[in-house]
Amino acid sequence: MTEPTEDRTLLVTGIGELVTHDPAHGASGVLTDAALVVSGGRVVWTGPAAQAPAADDRLDVEGRCVIPGFVDSHSHVVFAGDRSAEFAARMAGEPYTGGGIATTVAATRAASDDVLRDGARHLVAEMLAQGTTTVEIKSGYGQDVATEERMLRLARELTDETTFLGAHTVPAELAHDRRAYLDLVTGPMLAACAPHARWVDVFCEPAAPAAFDADESREVLDAGIRAGLLPRVHGNQLGPGPGVRLAVEVGAASVDHCTYLTGDDVAALAGSSTVATLLPAVEFSTRSPYPDARALLDAGVAVALATDCNPGSCYSSSMPFVVALAVREMGLTPLEAVRAATAGGAAALRRDDVGTLRSGARADLVVLDAPSHVHLAYRPGVPVVRTVLRGGRPVV
Ligand code: NIG
Ligand code: FE
Repeated sequence: MTEPTEDRTLLVTGIGELVTHDPAHGASGVLTDAALVVSGGRVVWTGPAAQAPAADDRLDVEGRCVIPGFVDSHSHVVFAGDRSAEFAARMAGEPYTGGGIATTVAATRAASDDVLRDGARHLVAEMLAQGTTTVEIKSGYGQDVATEERMLRLARELTDETTFLGAHTVPAELAHDRRAYLDLVTGPMLAACAPHARWVDVFCEPAAPAAFDADESREVLDAGIRAGLLPRVHGNQLGPGPGVRLAVEVGAASVDHCTYLTGDDVAALAGSSTVATLLPAVEFSTRSPYPDARALLDAGVAVALATDCNPGSCYSSSMPFVVALAVREMGLTPLEAVRAATAGGAAALRRDDVGTLRSGARADLVVLDAPSHVHLAYRPGVPVVRTVLRGGRPVV
């Protein structure tokens, strides 16, 4: 294939199954025997291959399936250190409490920019090879002004979707003075980090002693909003709690985890614009119950799927694995799971330019080495992603 340039058009044809999420193609948004045209890095046409317009260049995918690039709306890939022993202990019966975050904070503070950058780049490349074309990255393993600022500066080298999570946990040195840490997070740390961040997040989890209760979380989010950041929340991961209701109250784009939800939580989400982002690879890696995705979808809640790639609760960068878990363990259909991992992730980041293959969307395409999207769940653990285009350019 010729390298596309801004003024050349590209016809992707021979698409056995094209997942567009475009209602113009029916309720499923899925076409068979399809083609797609890219111009200026955007999708400009989708339809039956037999009706495709002419283009300068041509890529024949020989009957394979094409889906939108995955939008992984939740990750913590800037970190140093290894917590595999903590995982092994969990598999032997230890519960996940979030206490291991302190181990990563110590390693991250001690790491150079080069070490942090190399680790994050490696994980983002791993994600791209598995079809992720948009990724969100959080801070939260610095928990001092300099390291939080450094984490976000490095994350910004890799994505525009950066999130200030100074309020991940209270660091050990301030465990005796939570007020002092909240003043730091909402004051000098926020001031240093806001220029590098789009979002503000908080680990709202009263069940975890080092995380934050509802009032503390609201204070952190309000300060971030005043500094021009948009709110999102870690909530209801370790037990039922106030995270979901707080997220809805502040108009957060997303509340993430949602492992333990009450009927009131589901109802609050259903009447809101807040996306429920489910992270089933966390449940897998912490041996926790899976969230009730069916109840959320049936109530009309917007649902996203993401990896939460991090060294503690889930060290997987794989959206195909997440899709397979959502189908096998949470009762989503394969198409619902793909939609949640693409358009759902885009909604969780308040983006309308990615996550679908509608005309006008960024030409982020994943060609599967398979005839249908079902193979993402049907062939777990197998590298089914063959080719990835971002902005119409081949990147894998
Ligand atoms: O999303 N829940 C809090 N934070 C991360 C895990 C952090 C860690 O254990 O290092 C999460 O699961
Ligand atoms: Fe997280």
